[in-house]
Amino acid sequence: MRAGIWLIGARGSVATTTVVGTLALRAGLAEPTGCVTAHPALNDEPLPGLGDLVFGGHDVVTSPVAKKAEELAAAGVVPARLVTALAAELAAVEADLRPVPAAPVQAEVAGAVADDIAAFAARHQLDRVVVVNVASTEPAPEPHPAHASLGALTAALAGQGKVLPASSVYAYAAFRAGCPYVDFTPSTGARLPALAELAARQRLPYAGHDGKTGETLLKSVLAPMFAMRNLEVRSWSGINLLGGGDGASLANPAANAAKSLSKQRVLGETLGYEPEGGTRIDYVADIGDFKTAWDLITFAGFLGTGMRLEFTWHGCDSALAAPLVLDLARITAAAHAAGHTGPLTPLAFFFKDPLGDADHALATQWEALRAFLAGLG
Ligand SMILES: NC(=O)c1ccc[n+]([C@@H]2O[C@H](COP(=O)([O-])OP(=O)(O)OC[C@H]3O[C@@H](n4cnc5c(N)ncnc54)[C@H](O)[C@@H]3O)[C@@H](O)[C@H]2O)c1
Repeated sequence: MRAGIWLIGARGSVATTTVVGTLALRAGLAEPTGCVTAHPALNDEPLPGLGDLVFGGHDVVTSPVAKKAEELAAAGVVPARLVTALAAELAAVEADLRPVPAAPVQAEVAGAVADDIAAFAARHQLDRVVVVNVASTEPAPEPHPAHASLGALTAALAGQGKVLPASSVYAYAAFRAGCPYVDFTPSTGARLPALAELAARQRLPYAGHDGKTGETLLKSVLAPMFAMRNLEVRSWSGINLLGGGDGASLANPAANAAKSLSKQRVLGETLGYEPEGGTRIDYVADIGDFKTAWDLITFAGFLGTGMRLEFTWHGCDSALAAPLVLDLARITAAAHAAGHTGPLTPLAFFFKDPLGDADHALATQWEALRAFLAGLG
């Protein structure tokens, strides 16, 4: 199966690390450490092979992807030797990146995005293209009556003015072009009734939301432990410090609020109650792509005895995210080929704020993923 991966935010850190990593794996220059689908317990048979993947995408900036790769190498996110060795392959990816179309009417923007994706599929004779959103986090959008149904949305998009946030314009364009859509960000994306209707009509699967790579990953392991041992979590407070483009976007209070909300769902839904405390995200330019999370958890045991757990997580955000983006694109391509439609809840393992009624405990999510991949085979 020849599959395209169309990255929204294609010149950003996560996208560039995904491209460099995939090219390096394909060339035998790297090991698949961090790629979940390389785990021996999972069936990777139905997935498109690494040699059958082609990258393209949109971005609002036009700086070359090779330059971004060099910056990531200088920051210690990817090995510099890979960027040098893969110069020709990176130049080939550059040729498939497009600027974001501009028009006063959002239906025209979506039409131009869909045309870019269709031309990419035709140019490379692809069996399917998966659109993956790894663009900057958006603030939550204003509610709009046209979000409720496809008919109302189609009519509203033909008029002047903003009806959809950018992430949802891309989801709409992807579905119109017959492509599955994956949202690795907390942005709205396909999470609107009108877009669910469009995906169902086009018989397309979609997945999201917000890749789980750090503090929330730990929460999805630790919260079930407290619940299973019947310990009472009294408070859970976390602070996340990050730099890079993502950190800069999250310095905007509205985008920050969207991200923080996405990080909190796991506790209430796993424990069955909301402990005191919250999650904060602060921008520290100097730490770049290396995120630090500090969490303090206070809990009570037998006879009400108070105890505490603290953890510190130092993660390289793009190195954690990129293999998951690759996994998600390959699994979603295989799910599409197998005829799956609608929200892919068995992919909850990858997300902070999974679609549908997915369980939030990592071990349960792992089992659902394993069964799903076995079923695809
Ligand atoms: N790295 C992680 O561990 C992780 C985990 C979960 C989610 N995410 C999400 O992934 C996204 C990307 O993170 P990053 O570190 O690569 O950020 P980044 O700032 O390096 O890259 C984002 C890219 O999106 C582009 N962009 C912005 N608006 C756009 C638009 N309307 N259309 C097309 N492109 C647009 C920017 O120009 C930039 O190149 C963020 O939303 C982040 O929250 C990352």
